[in-house]
Amino acid sequence: MAKVTDVNGFKYKFFEIGASPEKGQISELNKFFAFFPKEDIFFTIEQGKIIVFLRQIDLKEFEGKARDFTSIKEVIDEILRRIHSIKSYGIKNGKRVYVDYDKERKVKLRKEKEEERGKYFYALSHGFYDKNNALPSEFENKIICGDSEDVLKKFPDNCVDLIFTSPPYNFGLEYENHKDAESWDKYLNKLFAIFDECIRVLKFGGRIVVNVQPLFSDYIPLHHIISNFFMNRKLIWKGEIIWEKHNYNCKYTAWGSWKSPSNPYLKYTWEFLEIFSKGSLTHKGETNETDLTADEFKKWVYARWDIAPERNMKKWGHPAMFPEELARRVIKLFSFKGDIVLDPFNGVGTTTKVAKELGRRFIGIDISEEYCKKAVQRLGDKKGKSKKLKEQGILSLFSELD
Ligand SMILES: C[S@@+](CC[C@H](N)C(=O)[O-])C[C@H]1O[C@@H](n2cnc3c(N)ncnc32)[C@H](O)[C@@H]1O
Repeated sequence: MAKVTDVNGFKYKFFEIGASPEKGQISELNKFFAFFPKEDIFFTIEQGKIIVFLRQIDLKEFEGKARDFTSIKEVIDEILRRIHSIKSYGIKNGKRVYVDYDKERKVKLRKEKEEERGKYFYALSHGFYDKNNALPSEFENKIICGDSEDVLKKFPDNCVDLIFTSPPYNFGLEYENHKDAESWDKYLNKLFAIFDECIRVLKFGGRIVVNVQPLFSDYIPLHHIISNFFMNRKLIWKGEIIWEKHNYNCKYTAWGSWKSPSNPYLKYTWEFLEIFSKGSLTHKGETNETDLTADEFKKWVYARWDIAPERNMKKWGHPAMFPEELARRVIKLFSFKGDIVLDPFNGVGTTTKVAKELGRRFIGIDISEEYCKKAVQRLGDKKGKSKKLKEQGILSLFSELD
């Protein structure tokens, strides 16, 4: 790791290069470094070793110039490798900055202030115990047809790593075997009873990610109501992702008070993903069990995801599916390979299909037998594989699907 030091009133990160340079190499290095201001980067030789001092550089320029110095290519490559391994604080005036970030910050003494304020005050003294349990094998890799509140009661505490789900939103959609227009009290009581079970079965450090769309037209901020519920239950609000659907359907209708501020109607082309952690923000797992690429990680931690809505709802006969890409990102970003992923409102099984493809263990629960059958069908990639699926144990717990 590079340490920090002061030289002539400037802060630098510094590191030593392994191999001892020859005389000719030092003179070439001097020529190379002369292209960059000493306040940004320089080197010294101490006890025969090169020590590089780094504040900030234009990496592209540095790499470009390096191409003219083929005789010291190995040394420069080693310097570049070390520079790439140092965390930079971002780019300022075209240069990547490695030190003195606090000087740029509006908030000084951030850590001390953080301690004074306290983080996620609403989730302190949560009382969750940190011992996790194994999921009984009869539930593993299963599509289960039933009411999630009842089914989840059969699970032990702390046995699921990730819950990803999209509950019915009470909009009045036409589901098979579920009434989607209850009074809000009745709807929320049922939803929260299921979420209470979800919290209980979630592991310590596990995450629950809820895809939710407020009923804008009735002024029901369902995403806030659900978030408040989880925070009152002392889960940590880990963040929120905007799922930008570019839903042009809603763009040109329902203006409210046309051209008047008396009651303009706001339009939304996105849904929300609210993310919560139980007990700890850290979910433990082995580094070799992550399947995220650097590009995926960099792209997906920016919390606005542009993903088109699911186009195959007619094909699967379900009115409110989310797209596979949404499940793929959530599962890869928030769980390790081999983790247990649960969807308690599994519909026709988008979560369980993607979880299986990504090498996670899965459980999908839905109240509709018709949807469960389709979810089972989607787990096999070709028709006629049901026998094989049976052999793999991917069946409903309930006899209807046997
Ligand atoms: C928004 S849909 C989920 C769709 C799913 N994400 C997909 O891509 O197929 C909500 C699902 O919740 C199911 N559901 C409603 N009440 C339920 C309950 N009490 N227990 C289990 N599932 C329920 C409905 O049948 C519906 O399929």
